[in-house]
Amino acid sequence: MSPQLGQPMHVLAVTTSTNDEAKRAAKEGAPHGSTWVAEQQTAGRGRQGRTWESPPGENLLFSVLLRVTCPPSRIPPLALVAGLAVRDAVARAAPGVDVRIKWPNDVLVEGKKIAGVLVEAVTMGSRVEAVIVGIGLNVHTRVFPEELAARATSVALVAKEAPDREELLADVLANLERDVEVVVGRGLGPLRSRLEAADALKRRLVRSDAGDEGVAEGIDDEGRLLVRREDGVVTRWNAGEVHIVAD
Ligand code: BTN
Repeated sequence: MSPQLGQPMHVLAVTTSTNDEAKRAAKEGAPHGSTWVAEQQTAGRGRQGRTWESPPGENLLFSVLLRVTCPPSRIPPLALVAGLAVRDAVARAAPGVDVRIKWPNDVLVEGKKIAGVLVEAVTMGSRVEAVIVGIGLNVHTRVFPEELAARATSVALVAKEAPDREELLADVLANLERDVEVVVGRGLGPLRSRLEAADALKRRLVRSDAGDEGVAEGIDDEGRLLVRREDGVVTRWNAGEVHIVAD
């Protein structure tokens, strides 16, 4: 079967945000798989209201429209699947490098962020009509702004071979295509062992922005982080930022 994701592919020199392009087109009836890739974003955004900065022409900035009808509870699992798709593509481009997912959907190499995923749902009442998966993957950038340098990396910095942006994009899309249908239909269960193997938080002491703390014990089938508190109770975290406190 020919691939669906990446068809049609809209290549833009500059836009506000590829997620904006995808959202607008979703409302106008664009088909499943439509993808927007930009060399530059003037208002790129990340999760939790943050901005996503990327020097023009160096990295991968793209959004994929998934025409999936599913309950809102399937969104966090889809975000994890997107993280996994990027993780696998980076691992292929950088053989031997330990690439991990930091819940809910950052991709890390040696504790530094190499990619981020922003998933947004287009809803009609309480129904999800479409899901936009926006991905920012650092590919060629070697010099990061001072405030990011200790926390960010790129494929060029971790791989032995010079990365190829088109190959990476095709790889992420193929990985996403392989897993999206599975997760929409059956949840995260079938991906459990791959997720566990790639989990950057497993057995780490973590803290939420709200100040809750505990040891991360994996991800459940709804995409929630399992955290064992000091009193032994296992809690489930739905969303938000997680900080690694210690090993
Ligand atoms: C995060 O880590 O907070 C998520 C970052 C997501 C950035 C990508 S770049 C392509 C797409 N367009 C956006 O405005 N954001 C996402």
